[in-house]
Amino acid sequence: MTTVDLTQRFPTLTPHEMLAGFVPSRRFEEARFDNYLPNPAFESQARAREELQNFAEAVGRTRGGFRLLRRAPSPGEGIYLDGGFGVGKTHLLAATFFTVRSEQKAFLSFQELLYVIGALGMTEAVKAFTPFRFLAIDEFELDDPGNTHMVNTFLSQLMPGGTSVVTTSNTEPGALGQGRFNTHDFERQIAAIAGRFRSLRVDGPDFRARGAQVVAPLGEAEYRAWSGMQGQARFAPLEHRALNRHLLEVHPARFRKLLSGVDAVGVLDASGMPDQNVALRFVHFIDKVYDLGVGLALSGVPLGSLFPETYRHGAYAKKYSRCLSRLSELLSEARSSVAVVTPSSV
Ligand SMILES: Nc1ncnc2c1ncn2[C@@H]1O[C@H](COP(=O)(O)OP(=O)(O)OP(=O)(O)O)[C@@H](O)[C@H]1O
Ligand SMILES: [Mg+2]
Repeated sequence: MTTVDLTQRFPTLTPHEMLAGFVPSRRFEEARFDNYLPNPAFESQARAREELQNFAEAVGRTRGGFRLLRRAPSPGEGIYLDGGFGVGKTHLLAATFFTVRSEQKAFLSFQELLYVIGALGMTEAVKAFTPFRFLAIDEFELDDPGNTHMVNTFLSQLMPGGTSVVTTSNTEPGALGQGRFNTHDFERQIAAIAGRFRSLRVDGPDFRARGAQVVAPLGEAEYRAWSGMQGQARFAPLEHRALNRHLLEVHPARFRKLLSGVDAVGVLDASGMPDQNVALRFVHFIDKVYDLGVGLALSGVPLGSLFPETYRHGAYAKKYSRCLSRLSELLSEARSSVAVVTPSSV
C-alpha cells in the first residue's frame, strides 16, 4: 500500500465549501467549559471561563422571537481573549462555540477569514456571514495595512447587524500590528477594531508545559519505529525541503484540505529555514497539523535550530515560539506512541 504524497496535492476550495467547514477541528472537538480546568494560581482563567460561558448562553438567548419584531437588531458583542501561547485560549473559544445554542455559527482562523473575504469580495463576504449569530475567530493578528483595513471594514459592517464575535490572540489589542508595519498611520483603524471588543486577559504558563524546554526530534530508529506504526494509506512522509517547496505553492487557507484523509505526517531531514517566507509557511502548516489533530514526527536538526536566532526577537517571534511549543507537543505524542509499542527500541 502506498503512502500519501502531499507534493502531488494542489487543493482547490470554493469559498462556499470553506464556509461549510468552519467548525472546531479534531483536536478541539471535545473542548468544553467543564473540561477546562482553571489554574487556581491564575484568577484570570476562572474569570475568563465564567464570562465566556455567560456570553455564550446570552448569544443563544438573543435569538428569541420578539427580537425579530424589533426594528433594529441589537448589535453583536465582541470579546477579545488575549494571552501567551498554550494557556487554553483556543480551548475556551471552542467551548464557547459549542455552548452557543444556534446553528448559525462558525469557527475559523483569522487567516481563513481573510482568505474568504479576499476570495468573495467584501460585499459578498459580509452577506455570507450576516446570517451568523456567532463567529469564533482564532489567532487574530494584524500583519499589514491591507488586512487591517479589510478586517476593520468587515467587522464594522457585520457586528452592528447582530453577529457576536469572540477572538483569540497572542497580542493585546492595543499592540496589534506592532513591529510589523507602521501602526502609527493606522492608529484609527486599529483603535476601531480594538473598540469592538471587550478584552479578557488569560494569564498562566503554557499548558503544554514544554514551551521553554524544547523536545528533541526523533532519532533514526525511533522515526522508523514510528513510521512503521502508521496506516500507510493515511500517512504522508516527505523530505522537509520538498515540503517547504510545496507549501509555497499552496495558500495556508487550503492546508486543511491539503491534509484531508491524512492521519500522520513524517518530516524527514528537517533543517534550518533562513528564509522568512519559507519559515512562516512552515509555521502555518504546523499550526494546521496541530489543530487538526494530525500526528507528526520530525527527524533532523534539533528544534532550536529550525528558526534563526534573529526570528526570536523579530515581529513574528510569538508565532515561532508557539510553533516550537506545538512541535514539542506533537513530538512528545509521537515519541510516547513509539515507547508504548516498542520500549526496547527507544
Ligand atoms: N485549563 C485547561 N484545562 C484543560 N485543558 C487545557 C487547559 N488549558 C489548555 N488546555 C489544553 O492544552 C492544550 C493547549 O491549549 P490551547 O491550544 O487552547 O492554548 P492556546 O492558548 O490557544 O495556545 P496558542 O497560543 O498556542 O494557540 C489544548 O490541548 C487544550 O485543550
Ligand atoms: Mg490557540
